[in-house]
Amino acid sequence: MKKIAVFVSGGGSNLQALMDAITDGYIKDASIVVVVSNKKEAYGLERAVKSGIDTLFLDPKDFKNAQEYDKNLAEKMNALKIDIVCLAGYMKILKPIFLEVFKGKVLNIHPALLPSFGGEGCYGLHVHEKVLEAGVKVTGVTVHFVDEGADTGPIILQKTVEVSDEDTPESLQKKVLKYEHESYKEALKYVVQDRVSINGKKTYIKPSGKI
Ligand code: GAR
Repeated sequence: MKKIAVFVSGGGSNLQALMDAITDGYIKDASIVVVVSNKKEAYGLERAVKSGIDTLFLDPKDFKNAQEYDKNLAEKMNALKIDIVCLAGYMKILKPIFLEVFKGKVLNIHPALLPSFGGEGCYGLHVHEKVLEAGVKVTGVTVHFVDEGADTGPIILQKTVEVSDEDTPESLQKKVLKYEHESYKEALKYVVQDRVSINGKKTYIKPSGKI
């Protein structure tokens, strides 16, 4: 049984998709044991409570700096024997002190096709604004492992979404979000099944049946 922690800062619709995927048996042998947030008002925390999952709000104001915050977070996740950390709209960049402990075990979802439209400042609605400004015809979703850069870790899977002439940042966000939910649960399933290997920047997903 893999123990999962999901980190959120906002609405938590991706968290919901992961919780549902475990409840309905799409992802087996895994359990979300804690939902963590740096924002007290994050609706994701409420979603967790509604599903009977423990929550942890860690207030950045209670720590000297981001380094101390992430050190504490790593200790808490270690104490809970967490196997996989899923960032789901977690709007904080994890420090090396956390990532060294959970190397290759932290996943993130990004609402565009990385390495385009990623990096610092590229989050939430801003991503879709930049996509429209650039005039690209196709955008999408990326699920990737988190490394020490911003949105630079090995990609697990991507799905494409067409951009139409009528799209606004909001309509695009809505369209992409639907694919995020599908993609995140699919990627997490592969990771839970230990089917994903990492070699430098590249990941390989073993076909099922060859586990
Ligand atoms: C999602 O669109 C996610 O991809 C994005 O924040 C949103 C959170 O929505 N994350 C980033 O932009 C990270 N760079 P949710 O709280 O409803 O899951």
